[in-house]
Amino acid sequence: MTTTVYPVPGYPTVYLTEDNQQMIIRPMVPSDEKDLLEFFRRIPQEDRFYLKEDVTSAPVIHRWAEGLDYSRALPRLAILDGKIVGDGTLHHRRAGARRHIGEVRVVVDPAYRNRGVGRALLHKLVEIARDKGLEKVMFEVVADTEEAARHTAQVLGFVPIAALPGHVKDFCGNRHDLVILELRITMPDTEETEGSIF
Ligand SMILES: CC(C)(COP(=O)(O)OP(=O)(O)OC[C@H]1O[C@@H](n2cnc3c(N)ncnc32)[C@H](O)[C@@H]1OP(=O)(O)O)[C@@H](O)C(=O)NCCC(=O)NCCS
Repeated sequence: MTTTVYPVPGYPTVYLTEDNQQMIIRPMVPSDEKDLLEFFRRIPQEDRFYLKEDVTSAPVIHRWAEGLDYSRALPRLAILDGKIVGDGTLHHRRAGARRHIGEVRVVVDPAYRNRGVGRALLHKLVEIARDKGLEKVMFEVVADTEEAARHTAQVLGFVPIAALPGHVKDFCGNRHDLVILELRITMPDTEETEGSIF
């Protein structure tokens, strides 16, 4: 039997929330499985609806915990009072045409919102992207319903670069634009790459 060992990248970082509480942001580890499932089950359905997987499903979270592969996805957890209050992930493919690009996702427990948890998580993920040498980080938000996410990203320097009109449907069937935000970490190698469509 072969065992693949992925080094846990980075160490826990301490942030202060806006009400001066110490919050730890650290990598997810397999033993977080139960607490992470409980965390996602505290997230309202409307906030989970746009996620690509059913994060309230025990088998889904078990698969995440068992198959942690930090070379593709770097999950960071925000911990306050010993409890998971936020989850953010930097997705990145090492090879291929998108190897220079990261994508971030973030979700915070509603009981802990508007205290700087989301901003700290996004900030940490951008810092990791910079350390990995990525050129830019993308963040997708649903217009009208994820305005807090759009605001938080823009405060950190993300800019909207495209909107896909009516691209997503909410659980009532109403269509919303998908807004794509980007944060440039380094400038493109040549001007030719910028704005090129083909
Ligand atoms: C987006 C999210 C992660 C932010 O988490 P958070 O811990 O509340 O973030 P912060 O406290 O750092 O910042 C929230 C900011 O949004 C602002 N905000 C809150 N509601 C808002 C709204 N309806 N419209 C615009 N801005 C809003 C707050 O005023 C605050 O900004 P400020 O610090 O400049 O005053 C959280 O709202 C969330 O989990 N939303 C659902 C999931 C989601 O939309 N994820 C994004 C796509 S992956």
